[in-house]
Amino acid sequence: MSLISGRPRSYWIASTEAPFHPPAIEDFATEVAVVGAGIAGLSTAWEFVRAGRTVTVLEAGRIASGVTGHTTAKLTAQHGLIYDHLRGLYGAEAARRYATAQTEAIEHAAAVADEIGAECEFERVPAFAYTETDEGLAGITGEVDAATEAGLEASFTYETGLPYPVRGAVRVEDQAQFHPRRYLLALAAAITARGGRIVEGSRVVDLESDARPFVLRLGSGTRIRAEEVVLATHYPIVDRVRFFTRLAPRREVVVAAPIAAESDPAGMYWTAEDRTRSVRTAPLPDGRRLLIVTGEVFTPGSVEVSGRFERLADWTAARFGVTDLTYHWAAQDSATTDRLPFVGRLPGGQHVYVATGFGGWGMSNGIAAGRLIAGLVAGDPPEWADLFDPSRVHPRKEAVRFASFQKQVARHYVGDRIHKRPSDTDELGRGEGAVLRIDGERRAVYRDEDGELHSLVAKCTHLGCVVGFNDAERTWDCPCHGSRFDLDGNVIEGPAIAPLERR
Ligand SMILES: Cc1cc2nc3c(=O)[nH]c(=O)nc-3n(C[C@H](O)[C@H](O)[C@H](O)COP(=O)(O)OP(=O)(O)OC[C@H]3O[C@@H](n4cnc5c(N)ncnc54)[C@H](O)[C@@H]3O)c2cc1C
Ligand code: FES
Repeated sequence: MSLISGRPRSYWIASTEAPFHPPAIEDFATEVAVVGAGIAGLSTAWEFVRAGRTVTVLEAGRIASGVTGHTTAKLTAQHGLIYDHLRGLYGAEAARRYATAQTEAIEHAAAVADEIGAECEFERVPAFAYTETDEGLAGITGEVDAATEAGLEASFTYETGLPYPVRGAVRVEDQAQFHPRRYLLALAAAITARGGRIVEGSRVVDLESDARPFVLRLGSGTRIRAEEVVLATHYPIVDRVRFFTRLAPRREVVVAAPIAAESDPAGMYWTAEDRTRSVRTAPLPDGRRLLIVTGEVFTPGSVEVSGRFERLADWTAARFGVTDLTYHWAAQDSATTDRLPFVGRLPGGQHVYVATGFGGWGMSNGIAAGRLIAGLVAGDPPEWADLFDPSRVHPRKEAVRFASFQKQVARHYVGDRIHKRPSDTDELGRGEGAVLRIDGERRAVYRDEDGELHSLVAKCTHLGCVVGFNDAERTWDCPCHGSRFDLDGNVIEGPAIAPLERR
């Protein structure tokens, strides 16, 4: 019997209520325009209001409801086995600077939460990256060494709080976890209390000028003039440095279940094995803990998603003995070819900045992005800023991952996922969707619960890849750069700006 029931919903969103910020209906001017109100956008806006600048945050939907509303919110410098990777790619000094950026971000979040009085369930816990296999041990010991050299308090251990044995783990002390929405809703309130403005329901569809003052056009036609522009839209909506060839979307599923406080594994856990597994808990009002498990990484639009949920639910039940999965949801992040985010000035755009490519680690990186961009504008960037420079290109070092991204995208342009079955609309059951060839055109066809068919052109309005049906969330997802559309073709998340064409 399936452990997954009901519609996907995020615990973070279900457990908080956000105030409404009215959309922009008249043209206006602002000193700094921050586009996107996730952790990167709101953290950046906070740094600017703190520095006395006039800031407006432009959000297409609701604040803290994008990826940040669907994250796992481990606030840690341990990002999988990244330090050994960075040391090998760019040297020990680069690994040290990355660790410094993350550690400073954690301390900064703690200080900001304190300053604004955010009751965000901020908890100090150790972080573990583990292996269950003999083959995985070398990776763990290499990471202990590299993380220690990078300045983190890291050690090798066989002991964890997990209810199953591990073959070895790297343990990093004094990391943190929090409730991301409680933190960001408090931050948004602090931004507006200090004179910042937040507008919701205001999708930016164009950056109309290349020089100051920049003009941002909203879908409604409203225009906003700004001296500095920060694009914190998760996937960038402007492609000045061929981002679209260097950022790959990766979607993950999440399940959550209450457990007794005594069963809390008391830490944050991650393994690359089993298609990645990430584990943490959060406090529940009744004294129990909510076990939150993430994994089953896949390319959006490319696989049957309900099967991924089932596999993660079965794994969670088998490992933790839970039967009552109260929440399940999914989200995606973008990975760069060298696993470092792109944060900083857009080439050719002196006063336009971007923050993206967090590769599944956007909590500390999103907070670091805010500090970095505000530092650049003030002429006082942190010492680790260059590491994140969006203009960096290391053709040799990034070649293998770059080639694999390109191969994947090329396949999706030609629609490799046109479902063999069903092959026509008669075979489509209620609640099912598929890409079908109709009248010589690829159509994204969905039969609703009343039996009615909804037909859209299956070509993504971003750069033309063929979308795939997400059977768990009932959306059309694009495998190339991760745009997602609802059953009527409306954009759920970009980089696409225009809806899928209806037929
Ligand atoms: C399942 C999962 C678990 C994760 N767990 C962790 C974790 O434990 N620790 C960690 O560090 N990281 C984690 N991450 C990564 C982290 O959640 C993300 O990197 C981070 O939330 C991204 O924040 P963001 O601000 O860039 O994007 P978002 O939160 O998506 O914010 C971008 C905002 O921009 C808006 N927007 C988009 N286009 C426009 C436009 N044209 N005009 C106006 N607004 C626009 C969107 O509506 C959205 O609100 C996880 C990711 C996933 C998918
Ligand atoms: S083609 Fe880029 S998101 Fe679809």
